[in-house]
Amino acid sequence: MKRFIFDTYEEVCSAASELYVKQLNEKPDTVFGFATGSTPVGLYNELVKKYESGEIDFSKARSFNLDEYYPMKKDHPQSYDYFMRDNLFNKINLSAFSLPSGEAPNAQAECKRYDAEIEAEGGIDLMLLGIGHNGHIGFNEPSVSYSMGTYLTKLTQSSIDANSRFFGPDEVQPTEALTMGIGGIVSSRKIILMITGDGKAAIAKKLFDGMIHADVPASFVLLHPDVTVFMDKAAAGNL
Ligand code: PGA
Repeated sequence: MKRFIFDTYEEVCSAASELYVKQLNEKPDTVFGFATGSTPVGLYNELVKKYESGEIDFSKARSFNLDEYYPMKKDHPQSYDYFMRDNLFNKINLSAFSLPSGEAPNAQAECKRYDAEIEAEGGIDLMLLGIGHNGHIGFNEPSVSYSMGTYLTKLTQSSIDANSRFFGPDEVQPTEALTMGIGGIVSSRKIILMITGDGKAAIAKKLFDGMIHADVPASFVLLHPDVTVFMDKAAAGNL
């Protein structure tokens, strides 16, 4: 594991974006794994800037996202599909992007289809992750066992509460999601984990205490041979 701690969130995003430049120079047809949440937004802004200035070209690259609420319409403003189009996909020239579909009538069949699609594209080269306050990655919530492939999972109250800020009082917030399993995530060739803000200081302390915890799903990612962790000082405050 490589770990970098920067003074500010902006510096984290700028440093992480340099890995995307390097990755695309080395492999223009990279298969990216992308994440939603507030953490990667600054990185996505950097990637858009780099694309607009001609520094990077995504035209041969494609992507898969970690998760999607279930059920969820693609065009719902709180869908992860919408989030990704709004923050990144509509602003760069990625050749294709996929998310698990929250509109699929059969969740199990959709999970199988999604895993097969990832496999057919040769797997994920560079996976981006944030971490939940409860240690989740994607929607792999704290548990004693983890799925290899994509699966339908129930969200914990902690995740529902953390995301309730995005839903209006009249909107029904989903309590389930389709998420890549821990097995799928750690099959990626390289992983970037971003941990930022003082709200993540407590979970960062637990994550880096030298143990693999079943109740901190992100700790399994630290076993990966090529993981780069980017933190700001606020999140690293308790280390
Ligand atoms: P956040 O979410 O970036 O909005 O804190 C991270 C996550 O839940 O993985």
